[in-house]
Amino acid sequence: MKGKLFLLICFLCISCILKAADKPVIKIGTDRVNLIYKVADNGRLYQSYLGKSLNHASDIAFLPMGTEAYLTNGMEDYFEPAIHVLHNDGNPSLLLKYFSHSVNQVSPGVEETVITLQDDKYPVTVIMHFVAYQKEDLIKTYTEISHKEKKPVVLHKYASSMLHFNRDNYLLTEFAGDWATEAHMKDVPLEFGKKTLDTKLGSRASMFTPPFFQLALDGKADENSGEVIVGSLGWTGNFQFVFEVDNKNELRVISGINPYASEYSLKPNEIFRTPDFYFTYSFNGKGQASRNFHDWARKYQVKDGDKDRMTLLNNWEATYFNFDEKKLEELMGDAVELGVDMFLLDDGWFANKYPRSGDHQGLGDWDETADKLPNGVSHLTEVAKEKGVKFGLWIEPEMVNPKSELYEKHKDWVIHLPNRDEYYFRNQMVLDLSNPQVQDFVFGVVDNLMTKNPDIAFFKWDCNSPITNIYSAYLKNKQSHLYIDYVRGLYNVLERVKAKYPKLPMMLCSGGGGRSDYEALKYFTEFWPSDNTDPIERLFIQWGYSQIFPAKTMCAHVTTWNKNASIKFRTDVAMMCKLGFDIKLEELNETEEAYCRSAVKNYNALKPAILEGDQYRLVSPYSGNHTSTMFVDKNKKKAVVFAFDIHPRYAEKTLPVRLEGLDTNKMYRVKEINGMPGTNSSLQGNGQLYSGEYLMNVGLPLFTTSQLNSRVVEIVAE
Ligand code: GLA
Repeated sequence: MKGKLFLLICFLCISCILKAADKPVIKIGTDRVNLIYKVADNGRLYQSYLGKSLNHASDIAFLPMGTEAYLTNGMEDYFEPAIHVLHNDGNPSLLLKYFSHSVNQVSPGVEETVITLQDDKYPVTVIMHFVAYQKEDLIKTYTEISHKEKKPVVLHKYASSMLHFNRDNYLLTEFAGDWATEAHMKDVPLEFGKKTLDTKLGSRASMFTPPFFQLALDGKADENSGEVIVGSLGWTGNFQFVFEVDNKNELRVISGINPYASEYSLKPNEIFRTPDFYFTYSFNGKGQASRNFHDWARKYQVKDGDKDRMTLLNNWEATYFNFDEKKLEELMGDAVELGVDMFLLDDGWFANKYPRSGDHQGLGDWDETADKLPNGVSHLTEVAKEKGVKFGLWIEPEMVNPKSELYEKHKDWVIHLPNRDEYYFRNQMVLDLSNPQVQDFVFGVVDNLMTKNPDIAFFKWDCNSPITNIYSAYLKNKQSHLYIDYVRGLYNVLERVKAKYPKLPMMLCSGGGGRSDYEALKYFTEFWPSDNTDPIERLFIQWGYSQIFPAKTMCAHVTTWNKNASIKFRTDVAMMCKLGFDIKLEELNETEEAYCRSAVKNYNALKPAILEGDQYRLVSPYSGNHTSTMFVDKNKKKAVVFAFDIHPRYAEKTLPVRLEGLDTNKMYRVKEINGMPGTNSSLQGNGQLYSGEYLMNVGLPLFTTSQLNSRVVEIVAE
């Protein structure tokens, strides 16, 4: 009898195991976050859980099934689908069932889960990839779509990711703006219906909004409290985030390429790989979410993310188009005076038939203007070498002015509607990067310059126009591929540049922050957040971008925008990112010049904290008249705090600023640095030794009631 009972129990167990194996539970995990998928009896895949990691295996069975993971068009869901495929027979539906999954260790701390789904009526396969970065609590996800139908199928929708949330309320933070007002943050509650953040600008895709968002669950997320998801798409073109709250108050977040005017005809066996969507999940506010992104970006994503960055002097605002060899040699001398690493020559150095004397002509003709630079770029790199600074150069290789030799010779390379008047944005048009010949040309701009002038140490790669007049002579009857193939063409070029010149740092610029995404940053060491260098505006713009980008990727130049702000205030603001100058030294008095020199030295000494450390946003510029940010090096031995009084009120009460990220038990010497020569610090407690505990619980009286006042305070463990 006992034997029979034992056999019966064994049989029941095995069938349970088989059933479980039949209907797998797929757990994607980082140190603190779990994303769990389940396969239901109908064979479809459901997102069962996304939240804090669940560490008791037996609990997983109790999780509700959730909502279908990657919703398809034409089936029984009534809301926005993640994928919409039109089959050869005209059927627009897709029903995806779980086929298999696998897990593999990519490297220590990085694990990839691959889930394959298939339609059982049509030979269409969807493969979802999830790469989990354990320590950084970040998940990168993308999708591959392919089929084996006889003729091409048409993809109308092809999301990179679909995530589901079931909470009481949802608060979206969007980062909308425009040229010179980039990344302004605004909270928008999500209620029934759809909120879309997208762009149709093509090349200068994120001029109005960058490809990232923050989503707080069940209430507002602050710097140190609240549950928040921060998501971003790695695509240097049209993107779309759709947030849809359904009839049950459940939120679906669909992220991917903007399908607008982009139906994609997919050949049999061709794989449509979507861009990567990255997200992190923080249970203690936005500050942690930012640090997750910063750590991940420096370690895994950004070009030379673990390497140093060069300080520089740029000539754009100092000269605009008006310079010659002598002037540039003088400016290189100024770079030496300042003690920066590099001189960056901006726009205006090229073209001969239509010299680039302004922004209305010359783009496309990448030979040095003989009148201006009779000895060419090579002479400039030689002078730079003699003076002991590196030499960097501005280019805008994807663009063309109609007034150029390139346009005259290769009109067919220009994106334009053949039968309509041309429309210009900043007097220029966009080259057709879907065309491999154009890709060769664009690659050639960098390659020819580097071949002739191997000492060029840096490029500022600009992109000042969205795609206008959209039509490609090359794509003929596949016009709806242009937005996508443009970006793919750009990546082909950037891949070639990176392969041939792996050590060449480059700045991504797009008339300010018109391009700011993590796929581009695989090829660029840094980006230009905004043409607006008014330090007050920069406090907001940098605050916005710092939500997902680390300081070392964000270029900030000291300029003359807002002369009411002292050189110190302007420089202190720029020191919170990758520091550069774009000023005429001759306009500074001796004290100001001496201040700038010492600021560069201080900056170099603070690099381990600012560029490699942890960033804590202490007081938001959105909250009033003051703002403060600090950086702590990874050993918690040295930190730097920046504090700014913007427009304080008369006799306003100011409170001490509590620091963060220090070691409670360490003793730290507090010292105000970076002052104007000859001035003494008025910081109460300056020079004293405090415990980390005191600094984080009581704080320092950093703010004043002076207009446009700034402070840089060094905190060093003893
Ligand atoms: C863009 C950039 C500027 C400068 C000009 C040159 O606007 O954002 O920094 O390089 O182009 O034309």
